[in-house]
Amino acid sequence: MPLLQKSRSLLLASAVAGVVVASGATLAGTAEAATTLGASAAQTGRYYGAAIAAGRLGDATYTGILNREFNSVTAENEMKWDATEPSQGRFTYTNGDRILNQGIAMGAKVRGHALLWHQQEPGWAQSLSGTALRSAMINHVTQVATHYRGKIYAWDVVNEAFADGGSGGRRDSNLQRTGNDWIEAAFRAARAADPAAKLCYNDYNTDGVNAKSTGIYTMVRDFKARGVPIDCVGFQSHLGTTIAGDYQANLQRFADLGVDVQITELDVAQGGNQANIYATVTRACLTVSRCTGITVWGIRDSDSWRTGENPLLFDNSGNRKAAYTAVLNALNAGGTGSPSPSVPPSPSTSPQPGGGCTATISLNSWTGGYVATVRVTAGAALSGWNVTVTLPSGGAVTSTWSATANGTTGTVKFRNADYNGQLTSGGSTEFGFQGTGTAPTADPVCAAA
Ligand code: G3I
Repeated sequence: MPLLQKSRSLLLASAVAGVVVASGATLAGTAEAATTLGASAAQTGRYYGAAIAAGRLGDATYTGILNREFNSVTAENEMKWDATEPSQGRFTYTNGDRILNQGIAMGAKVRGHALLWHQQEPGWAQSLSGTALRSAMINHVTQVATHYRGKIYAWDVVNEAFADGGSGGRRDSNLQRTGNDWIEAAFRAARAADPAAKLCYNDYNTDGVNAKSTGIYTMVRDFKARGVPIDCVGFQSHLGTTIAGDYQANLQRFADLGVDVQITELDVAQGGNQANIYATVTRACLTVSRCTGITVWGIRDSDSWRTGENPLLFDNSGNRKAAYTAVLNALNAGGTGSPSPSVPPSPSTSPQPGGGCTATISLNSWTGGYVATVRVTAGAALSGWNVTVTLPSGGAVTSTWSATANGTTGTVKFRNADYNGQLTSGGSTEFGFQGTGTAPTADPVCAAA
């Protein structure tokens, strides 16, 4: 379980609710007063979401509030590794799909949570290490993101990989022990499996400028510099009775790296400041143009994982609390307008000429294996494409996504899938494959089909 903000915020003496947006905020105040959280957030192009549990969808009070108030949902537990791959290679999406379908029925965004996390790993994965674990985790990312391809607004690709305390470094886990590059391998596999989803790194105790958030900031800056596909950073914001004075400034410094920011698991201990803290978080997001939305981690206090802390916007009976009114008023006060779009990933090699298209390959390798992401770009309109990749001897393709492989060793020809063969002039798409042995060194060759 994550530590809450309490201990850290004691160190931040300047943390006072309301201070954050008092300086520097440029609230437009143009929005008409809306009467629900989602509708109000939508006025500035944002979402207001809730984490929901499949087991509660039969509760009429719960679903009544959900349908009325929210325009985004996150699966509280149902899309995690233990839920979706309870035994290796056997995927179960029943409950995850219930969350997805609830979101679709509401016309809401669906946030995917979470592809890789050191907690809630299934038992079989907990007992793996090294190459076997690396292959299993990449396969998990690929399979789950492929199952939900085109349906998820944003995935928490990696959750809580940084250590608490002052080190600013990674948390020890069996995932981390497969090699420091496990996070970027996961992001590349997720991009290949679902190119349309925004890919987020998500963590807690990052709700201000501190050693942990700076460690993550440094990783995101490095990913952006090297073209590792990352689009967003999630700030869980499990808050206590104070909020960091630099909460908004911290969001802004990440946004300035060229990623979206999202508040992903907001809940606030009920105390004298609960409503103010909720309002402060809301205004901070509205003030940062790349803050695309806020998710609260549950609906009623009785739905919360923080038993006894009453940290949510609705009481046990489903009545709106003072914190709800504070959030709605803050949303209705307006913000910076529509969040800006993400920047697409950049290729890692030079395009090679081919018959009507070019292909570039990005590799993420480890001892004994690799994941390849291939970007196909059309020189003129195409109705299909083939990409040929030459593998070093001894290596083999073990899985392919968003394309079909003809062969597994030597010269392997990849053909477009049904849905990504048609490209307009200058248009592009991606596919990926996982391989054993040494990664290919020759550039891929693309030809129109
Ligand atoms: O569903 C079983 C039930 O059948 C069983 O009888 C019961 C006995 O313990 O357990 C139930 O499962 C619990 C599950 O929540 C559903 O309620 C698990 O034990 C419990 O561990 C699990 O807790 C979840 C927790 O993540 C796991 O670490 C919380 O619901 C969930 O809110 C929480 O969410 C996390 C985010 O994913 C990441 N950030 C922190 C956040 C809060 O810890």
